[in-house]
Amino acid sequence: MTPQVDASTPAPENFPLPPGRSGLPLLGETLEFLRSSRAFSERRQRQYGPVFRTHVLGSPTVFLTGPEAMQWIFAGEGKYLKNRWSPGVRRLLGARCLSLLEGEEHLERRRLLAPHFSYATMRGFVPVIESLVTRHFERWAALPGELTLWPAMRELAFEIALTLIFGQDAVDVPFLMHHFQRWTAGLFVPAPVNLPWTTFGKALASKKAMIDYLDKVVAERQARTEQPPDLLGSLLQRREDGEPPLSRETIVDELQLLLFAGHDTTVTATSNLVLLLARHPEVLQRGREAVAHLEGPLTLDGLRATPYLVQLLHEGMRVIPPIGGAFRVTTRDVVYNGYRIPQGWAVPVSIRTAHAGSSWPEPDRFDPDRFSPERAEQRKQGAFIPFGGGPRICLGQHFAMVEMSVMLALLLKHYTWELVPGQDLSYILVPFPKPRSGIQLRFRRLG
Ligand code: HEM
Repeated sequence: MTPQVDASTPAPENFPLPPGRSGLPLLGETLEFLRSSRAFSERRQRQYGPVFRTHVLGSPTVFLTGPEAMQWIFAGEGKYLKNRWSPGVRRLLGARCLSLLEGEEHLERRRLLAPHFSYATMRGFVPVIESLVTRHFERWAALPGELTLWPAMRELAFEIALTLIFGQDAVDVPFLMHHFQRWTAGLFVPAPVNLPWTTFGKALASKKAMIDYLDKVVAERQARTEQPPDLLGSLLQRREDGEPPLSRETIVDELQLLLFAGHDTTVTATSNLVLLLARHPEVLQRGREAVAHLEGPLTLDGLRATPYLVQLLHEGMRVIPPIGGAFRVTTRDVVYNGYRIPQGWAVPVSIRTAHAGSSWPEPDRFDPDRFSPERAEQRKQGAFIPFGGGPRICLGQHFAMVEMSVMLALLLKHYTWELVPGQDLSYILVPFPKPRSGIQLRFRRLG
């Protein structure tokens, strides 16, 4: 069926609501949804078809499934849909950061930030990332015992993000990491209760500690006559079009968002890929062969000349998308495929469902050849969306791909890893898909 985008004629009230049910009073069908959003959606698709209504996370919600539906959602930003964050996340993110901006203000901020995240800017970061990654991997390989990958990867990704933002400036990494961990722990709690001993209360206290610290760093930078070529430098630059510079509060909010948005996402993608490779030795071997031609320090050109790295990263994020989905809310009554979606209803961007849908034969199989250049034509737009889409597509996608390609190339070239037997590798899905054991490895240098 072709999606019906035009909501002007006939009037939306002439169309029925999508099929579905609201579940229990207040709770709706939230518990089943939280257990597994994919199973939840698949069951209802079988019962009701690709568009259905429900009530989850405190809101009447319409699920739209299939690649065309994802395209319709991305095209609706600012027209009939807007971003929706939970009240807890809104309080923990700074009010002036990109994710909470809408309309023209959102586009304007993206224009300001975008040059720093272009593929070309990443060229200069490759050596910096390589040296940080090598330092951490060598430390992991020298551990006498086993490595728990998840916390180790969190430390590494945090240092990389700090380097992207602050360049060569010295910042107190342990202090920031401590408060960052407590802050992010509060972002997805089911009940955001602000008391000193609750996770959310501690997160708010750590938000303040981080803001005070970042504020001093930004003030010190503002006092300099010349800015280094890092992200903070570009946020501080006067804008060419005569617009006033961003306020210090706005810059601090933005820095905190970037630390958050760029951290657990890359940790999740790389850690899960390490696990997938440990379980698929034949794919690991092909990966090793693919990087064999890379000599000396890594370069962006060398990485680009190794397309299998991208295939591995893409297939890893298809099978286990780091972000399972996001929420939008309708800003007016709108019609999709013959059904009315009333104003104020939630509409999920179901990334996990898109990656497991009928566009992908045997969706649970890890097969990087799905992303081979020869099969490019078979891939449908909207079926692979780890970075979202439309005006809110991930700002850091190129940075993430370069960062993860460097890690992956070094892992494949120089290291070997085995899973410690007997660990619990079943997944916790919220907020990020993570095996319960944190992935315990015997990690060694090759050769
Ligand atoms: C594997 C790594 C990553 C994944 C899978 C990922 C995924 C996503 C997704 C799905 C969105 C869209 C959310 C929505 O539609 O509401 C998003 C937005 C965003 N991402 Fe990423 N991301 C990754 C890495 C990064 C990095 C490294 C940075 C920055 C350093 C970053 C910065 C952002 C920002 C600022 C936004 C908000 C964009 C906006 O609202 O306009 N991300 N990301």
